[in-house]
Amino acid sequence: MFTAAVVTVSDKGYAGTREDISGGVVAEELEKGGFSVISRTIVPDEQEVIERTLKQYADEGVNLVVTTGGTGFALRDVTPEATLAVADKVVPGVAEAMRAESMRYTDRAMLSRGVCVIRARTVILNLPGSPKACAESLSCVVGPLAHGINVLCGKEGECAR
Ligand code: MTE
Repeated sequence: MFTAAVVTVSDKGYAGTREDISGGVVAEELEKGGFSVISRTIVPDEQEVIERTLKQYADEGVNLVVTTGGTGFALRDVTPEATLAVADKVVPGVAEAMRAESMRYTDRAMLSRGVCVIRARTVILNLPGSPKACAESLSCVVGPLAHGINVLCGKEGECAR
């Protein structure tokens, strides 16, 4: 079973003035998709803190790190920038698929700047902040991501069926 960590990026969540519902929704979707969620944390919208947190999980060898929040246009939204700063490789198709699926629900889906990247043997995925957006975005990518992680870990050397 693959391991996953959920990182809620929110100034208000970190300050305790907003309940972290999205983190729970993400964890639930991941468990449904066969991942074992071993950690959940809340960090403020500070690029340095986000980068440090992502690096820590990658160093620990967590298979998948999913962030929620900080992907939009607000001045303090820096989750994609932090994620790209720690990336070895970018996986554009996963973010493209999430936005394409999400556009069925709202055209504002195009406003999420979330990315998906690989750092060492860890995949890092950015989701928007709202609980509804998390559920809508994650469900279509969890299955393919598990296959990608299999390949990343060397368990499945080839993608042909
Ligand atoms: N994606 C889905 N599936 N459903 C949504 O409701 N909301 C959008 C977008 N992505 C949304 C979505 C909106 S309104 C914004 S502003 C962006 O995500 C960025 O959200 P964030 O700043 O909370 O990360």
